[in-house]
Amino acid sequence: MTMTFDFKHKVVLITGAGGGLGYACAQAFAKAGAKIAITDISQEALDSAVADLQDTGAEVLGLLNDASDSADVNAMLDAIVARFGCLDIAVNNAGTATPLQEFHQVGEAEFDRVMGVNLKGVWLCMQAEIRQMLKQGSGRIVNMASATSRNTFPNASPYVTSKFAVAGLTRTVAVEYAERDIRINAICPGNVATPLVVSLVEDLSVLATKHAIKRLGTPEEVANGVMFLASDLSSFSTGSLLEVDGGWNAI
Ligand SMILES: NC(=O)c1ccc[n+]([C@@H]2O[C@H](COP(=O)([O-])OP(=O)(O)OC[C@H]3O[C@@H](n4cnc5c(N)ncnc54)[C@H](O)[C@@H]3O)[C@@H](O)[C@H]2O)c1
Repeated sequence: MTMTFDFKHKVVLITGAGGGLGYACAQAFAKAGAKIAITDISQEALDSAVADLQDTGAEVLGLLNDASDSADVNAMLDAIVARFGCLDIAVNNAGTATPLQEFHQVGEAEFDRVMGVNLKGVWLCMQAEIRQMLKQGSGRIVNMASATSRNTFPNASPYVTSKFAVAGLTRTVAVEYAERDIRINAICPGNVATPLVVSLVEDLSVLATKHAIKRLGTPEEVANGVMFLASDLSSFSTGSLLEVDGGWNAI
């Protein structure tokens, strides 16, 4: 089931949209009439996503871009404004993880890599996006947090640390811009069988047991939540963390 949203004439950026949840969000916004800018660090994933989205008739700008690199992020914003003239909605989705490992075994480089994409990447993207949104006088940002922004996941300490931090960053920055019509929220998905998760966990049924609903989520269910936060239906929400996690955090 999908909700019906109207994003006609809206310019939407989704980072890390070559696959997984980001691609599902891009599909959903495209279906709702938005003009889409998508980024990824994988040229192959980006090309395939752009081609698939264009096949649906969507207007799409694909940018090979590293969300954890400030020069890349600033170039990304310049390219979006040059092509579409503005940025109405940004979904800061690009993320990564380490293989599951006990805390004392995690290498410093792995910690830095995960924090670089999942936390610094969101921080850099939000800065560039908000500078543009201040010029426009409005904007909507949805950060891809996680059920592990409030919950533990043993053997995933860099990932969980980064997602707790994204929750704090979202809430703090939301308050700073709340009176300037820039709404900033985060979505907290439970486990969904994306390429990232499939590469890290052999038995996905174990992940389903973490949810009260006892199944995995779908990318479309997460995209529905993202579209809600990006739409005027959530006009009184800012600094919120929306759980789309099958009841994981309620257990
Ligand atoms: N899948 C889940 O169960 C789940 C649950 C909660 C939160 N999340 C979050 O959702 C987001 C997407 O995860 P996913 O499961 O779809 O992962 P995924 O690996 O399937 O897709 C992520 C995409 O981001 C791209 N990417 C990685 N690093 C990047 C960078 N530095 N710059 C730009 N693009 C980059 C990858 O190439 C990939 O195409 C992540 O932030 C993740 O933490 C996922």
